Amino acid sequence: MMTTKPSPNSSKPLIQVNDLGHGYVMAGEMMPVLQNITFTIHHGEFVAIIGPSGSGKSTLMNMLGCLDVANEGSYWLDGQDVRKLSDNKLAQIRNEKIGFIFQQYNLLPKLSAFENVELPLIYRNVPHKERRRAAAESLRLVGLEDRMHNRPSALSGGQQQRVAIARAIAGNPPMLLADEPTGALDSKTGAEVMAQMQELNQRGHTIIIITHDLNIAEQAKRIIRIMDGKIVEDRGTVV
Ligand SMILES: Nc1ncnc2c1ncn2[C@@H]1O[C@H](COP(=O)(O)OP(=O)(O)OP(=O)(O)O)[C@@H](O)[C@H]1O
Ligand SMILES: [Mg+2]
Repeated sequence: MMTTKPSPNSSKPLIQVNDLGHGYVMAGEMMPVLQNITFTIHHGEFVAIIGPSGSGKSTLMNMLGCLDVANEGSYWLDGQDVRKLSDNKLAQIRNEKIGFIFQQYNLLPKLSAFENVELPLIYRNVPHKERRRAAAESLRLVGLEDRMHNRPSALSGGQQQRVAIARAIAGNPPMLLADEPTGALDSKTGAEVMAQMQELNQRGHTIIIITHDLNIAEQAKRIIRIMDGKIVEDRGTVV
């Protein structure tokens, strides 16, 4: 699995979001959180989505990650209309198309690094031998081959985040979605994690990073800035 790079299926966009809107009912009133969000992301892009706290970044990430479906607008992911998918199908799409990376790593404390990376492949019914190979290969890619049998508590924050990255790439998804991946790290370790993301982008993964840190965002090829739930800026080279 890992020996093959994600293969972009032609020049069709990976993500097409049109006029997306979302809100929450609070005290009987609809509070808009996302409004008129429209953008296209092609295979191979490295995008940072930035904006102040409360601007709607994580809400947008939940939509892009098929963890939630927006109230309004459309979202096409790799040629599929996400609104029309059943919960089962959404779970399948998440598993196949998206590798998630979170600020707090979200590793299972009782499992070793290796077992953490292997777990999503078990859910995908990847055969035993193949999944062990893929887990070992992705841990090697993030430079943790000598730490595979450690539990998260025996790893530094940066190493734990690299385990989470290995877990995200083990199934070779076309897209990596990271919500504040460096938020819990010091700046040096954060830079190492970003270098890792650059390398994965060069290997063909499309990367979307959510951050409120401009220094982190500037390492992406494109920056989409949101404020109060709306896109106020979209700059950078579109691949
Ligand atoms: N389940 C919910 N119910 C009601 N309001 C919500 C819910 N989830 C998010 N919100 C509101 O939506 C807005 C955007 O939240 P979101 O978590 O997307 O912001 P964010 O940009 O990720 O912020 P941060 O940088 O602090 O993580 C906030 O005003 C938040 O209070
Ligand atoms: Mg957030």
